Amino acid sequence: MNTVNIGVIGAGYWGPNLIRNFVDLPKTNLVAVADMKQERLDRIAQMYPSIKTVNDYRELFNLGLDAVVIATPPATHYMIASDCLRHGLSVMVEKPLTLRAEDSEALIELADRMGLTLMVGNTFEYNAAVETLRKLIADGELGEIYYINAVRTNLGLFQPNVNAMWDLAPHDISILLYLLGKEPTSVSAQGGKHVFKHIHDVVFMHLKFGENLQAHIHVSWLDPNKTRKITVVGSKKMAVYDDVENLEKIRVYDKGVDVPPYTDTFAEFQCSYRYGDIVTPHIQFVEPLKVECEHFADSVSHKTTPRSSGQVGLRIVKVLEAAQQSLDADGTPVGITPTIDTLNPENVVNLMHSVGLQTPATNGKSRHLNTVSRQ
Ligand SMILES: NC(=O)c1ccc[n+]([C@@H]2O[C@H](COP(=O)([O-])OP(=O)(O)OC[C@H]3O[C@@H](n4cnc5c(N)ncnc54)[C@H](O)[C@@H]3O)[C@@H](O)[C@H]2O)c1
Repeated sequence: MNTVNIGVIGAGYWGPNLIRNFVDLPKTNLVAVADMKQERLDRIAQMYPSIKTVNDYRELFNLGLDAVVIATPPATHYMIASDCLRHGLSVMVEKPLTLRAEDSEALIELADRMGLTLMVGNTFEYNAAVETLRKLIADGELGEIYYINAVRTNLGLFQPNVNAMWDLAPHDISILLYLLGKEPTSVSAQGGKHVFKHIHDVVFMHLKFGENLQAHIHVSWLDPNKTRKITVVGSKKMAVYDDVENLEKIRVYDKGVDVPPYTDTFAEFQCSYRYGDIVTPHIQFVEPLKVECEHFADSVSHKTTPRSSGQVGLRIVKVLEAAQQSLDADGTPVGITPTIDTLNPENVVNLMHSVGLQTPATNGKSRHLNTVSRQ
């Protein structure tokens, strides 16, 4: 496939950014945009007169498209994505993939059965600063990771149908999973409902990744400052990623604490604090959304699994679902079972062996094991 014919569904706040990128990319042909609101379509038609605009996304099924990108409210993702997959279209869905883990599983299975691409729009996985941070951790530059603190706050934008956690935390969870290469084992969350009495506008999440690694996520629509900051504290060095900074997005601090050898007296117990250089790695920055859109087009063309695949989307929804359970139970920790990628037969075999079962001949069918259990 040389050029990927694409349709975008949803042209509200975020959709026009996707539309701009798919119009600009040489390897994609943006054929049509669907939105229920005529004024949104009029705006798109004014900017891009050659693009077809339709009110009903189902009209996209007759236009010879290869793929669609869904930028509608999260509550509609599952229904629209499954309809598009059933009509033979590869799909990129904006975050979060769905509002329920079982719906994400169903989409993964459907895409697999239809031989189509399913991707979730985790923009930060295509961000050069996040990639730099991931490499610092993977190369052991920071040493053993002790904890990560993520803050994503601003005044607004209030959403009518999801709380601040479902709106903002998918970004931070996707970054954490990408940086650490593993899923949390449990999560707890507490928050407040201030402006509207039924919707959390501030949430504090605490994630455990096994015994000695923890992360904290603070998301809020009620804060005087726009903050998008991730601090990674390691045994050797510490790094701060500030997405609001234009130039120095990452700073690596050669700071740490060295514990003295065993001492007998309190007077001798003196930690030595290291205050070394602060280094700002050079980052060749390209608009992350452009990289993401290009990656989707390549995945569709070459039939390869995208970096932010349906499985990655599922892992994030599982964390959010568990965190919502915890939020509803005023912070009671909720355990998260590891997601087994059962589309990969090797994983199924390993899983069955681990619980002492014989493995039958596989017929290529997929199965997803995914439960969220209260601890
Ligand atoms: N990746 C990012 O950084 C990022 C940033 C903002 C929003 N988002 C995501 O993008 C999605 C959309 O968010 P938004 O802020 O643009 O929402 P929005 O409400 O501003 O826009 C959604 C649009 O979808 C249209 N729509 C709803 N149902 C439809 C249907 N059945 N058929 C056709 N059109 C329909 C609405 O008319 C509206 O114009 C959400 O999933 C959100 O989480 C991602």
